[in-house]
Amino acid sequence: MSVRKITAKITGVGKALPEKRLTNADLEKMVDTSDAWISQRVGIKERRIAAEGEWTSHLASRAAADALKMSGLTADQIDLILVATSTPDTVYPSVACLVQKELGAIHAGVLDISAACTGFIYGASLAWGMIKAGLMKHVLVVAAEVNTSIVDWKDRDTCILFGDGAGAAVFSECHSDTDGILSIKLGGDGNYGELLELPNSGCRVYTDESGNKLGRYIIMQGNEVFKQAVRNMAECAVCVLDRAGLTTQEVSLFIPHQANTRIIEAVAKRLAVPAEKVFVNIANYGNTSAATIPIALCEAFEQGRVKKGDVIVVDAFGAGLTWGAMAIRWA
Ligand code: UT7
Repeated sequence: MSVRKITAKITGVGKALPEKRLTNADLEKMVDTSDAWISQRVGIKERRIAAEGEWTSHLASRAAADALKMSGLTADQIDLILVATSTPDTVYPSVACLVQKELGAIHAGVLDISAACTGFIYGASLAWGMIKAGLMKHVLVVAAEVNTSIVDWKDRDTCILFGDGAGAAVFSECHSDTDGILSIKLGGDGNYGELLELPNSGCRVYTDESGNKLGRYIIMQGNEVFKQAVRNMAECAVCVLDRAGLTTQEVSLFIPHQANTRIIEAVAKRLAVPAEKVFVNIANYGNTSAATIPIALCEAFEQGRVKKGDVIVVDAFGAGLTWGAMAIRWA
């Protein structure tokens, strides 16, 4: 009798978005920008903004509770909670600890992941590894951001790009040679760290030429990040498909990081994945950093665009630089 491999499949997905919307028209009143520029150059129409007192852990807990509900598991069955975020409520306690408390996941280990916009895929990779190794059965991976807390509302280069939100997925043990997570590739290059930085977010002090301390706001060399994103996302997607023994023609749905529709189109073109197989929701939420992938995955599922047997490729890129992709056959 052949023994099927232990792997992990996604048994639940969830998302949480703040109520408040910030439209391009609102931004026109705040900085020198226009709806036309933002729509054409980035593809965003509006983004969600956390309310006062609504923190990353609140969004993370809501998304996690949704994913848990869909999985049919109880919180005490979760072995590990991983939260990918660049905007934790506090460095410690970690957001994962706060989610654990909120859910009552009394048997779970807890860990935050710092991999910027790629954090969800790094979390998925750890979940897969733990489950494949037979060390754990159910791992909850959450990605949550209140990006609007690290945005300089006077800087039109960046303030139009980001939004708040959270997404989550439960990864559970399954026995299959064909289903669940098929392959993952992680990547990074610290040589390009300066292209996208959050100054004064740690022990290093950033100052301007006059020695004045900079604000704790995202700074980005957009053009360079754009080029790196296209190249690395395309290569990474090809790599996970190769590892899974699949071709781009076999992809049912491609879910890329939602940073810019022009990046998404350029990556899809390199992969020769047609537009109808590419999931895009950036118009509604902007760039929610680590949360874009699990929010999109959840919405794709809600819209019936993810069905049993489908090959899904998710692909992210972010500060660090970091990148990563994962191929799944939905089970
Ligand atoms: O999630 C992490 C990864 N992040 C990304 O992948 C983001 C990657 N980068 C991008 O998506 C794009 O580079 C941006 C959306 C950030 C910028 O788009 P761009 O096409 O690279 O614009 P640009 O910076 O080359 O600027 C083009 C022009 C400039 O004016 P001039 O010099 O041509 O007169 C800018 O000053 O657009 C101007 N501009 C704006 N105009 C209206 C820049 N920002 C704005 C704005 N509204 N908000």
